[in-house]
Amino acid sequence: MIPLPQSLSEITGPVYGHDSVTGDDADLTRNGRRNGEPLGERIIVTGRVLGDDGRPLPDTLVEVWQANAGGRYVHKSDQHDAPLDPNFLGGGRCVTDANGVYRFLTIKPGAYPWGNHTNAWRPNHIHFSLFGPSLMTRLVTQMYFPGDPLLALDPIFLATPAETRHLLIADFSIDATESGYALGYKFDIVLRGRNATPMEA
Ligand SMILES: [Fe+2]
Repeated sequence: MIPLPQSLSEITGPVYGHDSVTGDDADLTRNGRRNGEPLGERIIVTGRVLGDDGRPLPDTLVEVWQANAGGRYVHKSDQHDAPLDPNFLGGGRCVTDANGVYRFLTIKPGAYPWGNHTNAWRPNHIHFSLFGPSLMTRLVTQMYFPGDPLLALDPIFLATPAETRHLLIADFSIDATESGYALGYKFDIVLRGRNATPMEA
C-alpha cells in the first residue's frame, strides 16, 4: 500500500461536471436496456449521505455496481454459470441532492458463489462508492438486505466488527416503496464518527 498525500489541488479541484451525471444514470432498470426490460424484482434503494454530526452531504457522487437477478456480473472475470441479462448492466450513479439524498431504481441482485470455500455464496449485496470533493476522497462499501440467511456465513460481511455490522444492512421501507412498482430499501451512509458506515477503502 502506498499512501497518496492529499495536496490542496487534490481536495479542492472539481472531479466531474454535474452535467455528466444524468437522471437516467440512477435507473439501472433502464440504463442497460437493449431489447426489453431487465428480469428480476425491481427495487428502490435510497438514503442519505451524512457527516459525523448528522449533517447531510450534498453533491456527493454515489456509484453502485451489482450482480443481476441471477447472481451474475457483466464482467469477463465473472464465470459463474448463471445467465447474463441482455438488458441489465448493473452499474449506476447519481449525485446527492441538497438534503444529501441519493436514490436508485434497480433489480434485486442475486446471491452468487465465489469459490472461497465449499458452498461459499455471497449474500445479496450492492457495492457502493462515494466520492467527496476529489478522486482522493473515495470510500467503498457494500449494502446488504435485511433477513438474508447468508449474512451469518459470509466471511466478508463477518470481517466487519460485530457491533457495526448492522450499519451495512439496509432497512426495508414501506415509505420508499412505490405502490404497484417496487419495494423500497433505505440505506444511510455515515462517513465519520461513532455511527460511521464501515468502509473497505
Ligand atoms: Fe459483489
